[in-house]
Amino acid sequence: MKILVLHGPNLNMLGMREVEKYGTETLDDINNSLKKQADKSGVAIEFAQSNHEGELVDFIQNTKGNFDGIIINAAAFTHTSVALRDALLAVNLPAIEVHLSNIHAREEFREKSLIAAVCIGQISGFKSYSYNLALCAIINSLK
Ligand code: DQA
Repeated sequence: MKILVLHGPNLNMLGMREVEKYGTETLDDINNSLKKQADKSGVAIEFAQSNHEGELVDFIQNTKGNFDGIIINAAAFTHTSVALRDALLAVNLPAIEVHLSNIHAREEFREKSLIAAVCIGQISGFKSYSYNLALCAIINSLK
């Protein structure tokens, strides 16, 4: 079993960006924690981050035949990107949507996710632990 964890725009700035909402951990901290969790479960895991919508589409397209599932925090593109939704539909792999903050308890424009309906489910609001929960959930779904 091989999982891709995909991080969207501005998530490379975690640890110094709005820490009250997103926590103090950096993206490397999160990826290291997921790698440990994946190793314990005997699962292969890879990570990618981009600030560019088209590059995120490329990463999703590249999962076809190379990965079994996707964990995605599309960040701001969650609320705007038909292209990411279509890419997820195109590869048709199990995906879980992740957010560090609770997107339903913030500005109204963040409540709408264009990718939620094409994911197995959404995990939102547990800071970095959202990703750990998502990894548990996708492993369980793929078993
Ligand atoms: C986010 C929530 C988004 O609304 C925001 O644009 C982000 C991060 C989160 O993880 O809480 O950049 O996806």
